[in-house]
Amino acid sequence: MSKRERTAGVAAGAAGALAAVAAWDLLQRQHSVLRNYPLVGHLRYLLEGIRPEIQQYFIESNTEGRPFDREIRDTIYERAKGIHGEQAFGTERDVNLAGYEYLVHSIAPLEPPAEPPRVVIGGPDCSRPYSMALLNVSAMSFGALSANAIRALNKGAALGGFAHDTGEGGLTPYHLENGGDLIWEIGSGYFSTRTSDGNFDPAKFVENSSHDQVKATSLKLSQGAKPGIGGVLPAAKVSAEIAAIRGVPEGEKCVSPPGHSVFSTPVELIEFIARMRELSGGKPAGFKLCVGSRTDVLAICKAMLQVGTTPDFIIVDGSEGGTAAAPLEYEDHVGMPLTDGLMLVHNALVGSGLRDRIKLGASGKVAAGNDIVKRLIQGADFTNSARAMMMAIGCIQSLRCHTDRCPVGVATQNPRRSRALDVADKSERVHRYQQATVAEAVKMMASLGAGSPEELNPRLLRRNVSEVENASYAELYEWLQPGELLAGARPSWSVDWQDASPDRFGSPAVGR
Ligand SMILES: Cc1cc2nc3c(=O)[nH]c(=O)nc-3n(C[C@H](O)[C@H](O)[C@H](O)COP(=O)(O)O)c2cc1C
Ligand code: SF4
Repeated sequence: MSKRERTAGVAAGAAGALAAVAAWDLLQRQHSVLRNYPLVGHLRYLLEGIRPEIQQYFIESNTEGRPFDREIRDTIYERAKGIHGEQAFGTERDVNLAGYEYLVHSIAPLEPPAEPPRVVIGGPDCSRPYSMALLNVSAMSFGALSANAIRALNKGAALGGFAHDTGEGGLTPYHLENGGDLIWEIGSGYFSTRTSDGNFDPAKFVENSSHDQVKATSLKLSQGAKPGIGGVLPAAKVSAEIAAIRGVPEGEKCVSPPGHSVFSTPVELIEFIARMRELSGGKPAGFKLCVGSRTDVLAICKAMLQVGTTPDFIIVDGSEGGTAAAPLEYEDHVGMPLTDGLMLVHNALVGSGLRDRIKLGASGKVAAGNDIVKRLIQGADFTNSARAMMMAIGCIQSLRCHTDRCPVGVATQNPRRSRALDVADKSERVHRYQQATVAEAVKMMASLGAGSPEELNPRLLRRNVSEVENASYAELYEWLQPGELLAGARPSWSVDWQDASPDRFGSPAVGR
């Protein structure tokens, strides 16, 4: 056959294939666009598929991208690679806009300390306190993340001396391979510590929490991106490995219920946290929540007072927080943003006279040094980051975590994709990113005239309340005095304080 005949044959074959696709487009009933525009209509689906990339690479400005803008993403990548992480020519932000916030520097700035400060987690009932870094890896499960992502995060934590939260998907061999400090989280599915019927198994809890790498245990009450609902892992993803790790049947849909079976009242919650501490041999125990109502937080404070013990830490997650997958309605419309939730919990603990027994963590878009300093000023003792840590190990914010088609092997269970993530390289990156970001936070504190986090105060953070007025957090928000709720709550807190009961969640006065 001559070259010309071969070319004609290929062309005829291609035309035939296109005609077949066009015929299918006309006959199918699912896609109206294709019925009206056979063949050409496929372009719409193609372009829709790469919309995030087009937006990110060609349309968004340096300060517009969401959830994290280009400036922040570049800073994370540069710090992770160990290059400058600095900016030329001045800010691109409009510093006069309402809502813009800034830190108040001192005319007599200090030299930053040689070593960044750390926070000791462990109240009076804890016999094995843990020294926590200012920035740690927030909870993300194996299942949501690939094995290599977990390995890289944990190795980075080992290199940098910071903590890595397992997430609620269980304690896995990938968490334990590289020796990084772990906060073992359990959610309402009690993975790695569950009985066959889905309840809490104390014997497994004792076994797993006794790992030397597990420095503390955390009960997840809720998560900012999806408060009030549990997670679902589809049956197809429940491989033999995940089934064994989570303690669930292989190939069956794995559902975490919305609420816990180990407690139903604030008192039972506090008793359970005390039990976790006891079962883990005295390691710090705490819980993580996205705040809903002030009454519920005060009810937990009353329960602490009644039971006579406290958690060693509470992590407050903001509604702006991330997830591998959640309904849009929950991501956008349920739960309290971090600023409000954090200050609420801090004030509730101060007002109940309990603040000095409990360390507060904060998570929700913590990515740069200023985020750490801002959260410390608002009441936190330490911060956690999920998505910035993902970016440090290669996430390009393609927003496909729920599809199992992560282009960089971070949020996928597909071995071909996750192989792309080089553990040795990415662990160095996450280590460098954490170290550089904490160093920047410490430097900023020194610029504010604060030699340590204890010297920060709400006057050092200001907010534009309009284009012509601004005020400090000390002026804008209420700050309770130690123990003042016990002596009689001020009018703005009295309804919630009265409604709060250690024996139930929720308020009796629905609609007030
Ligand atoms: C991929 C992914 C998986 C997550 N899995 C969990 C989880 O298992 N348990 C949990 O408490 N939070 C989970 N989170 C929430 C984070 O721990 C964190 O609270 C939240 O994303 C806010 O932090 P960020 O803004 O730094 O991402 C997950 C977040 C992401 C992005
Ligand atoms: S690259 Fe995309 S899919 Fe992968 S972790 Fe990042 S946002 Fe998720």
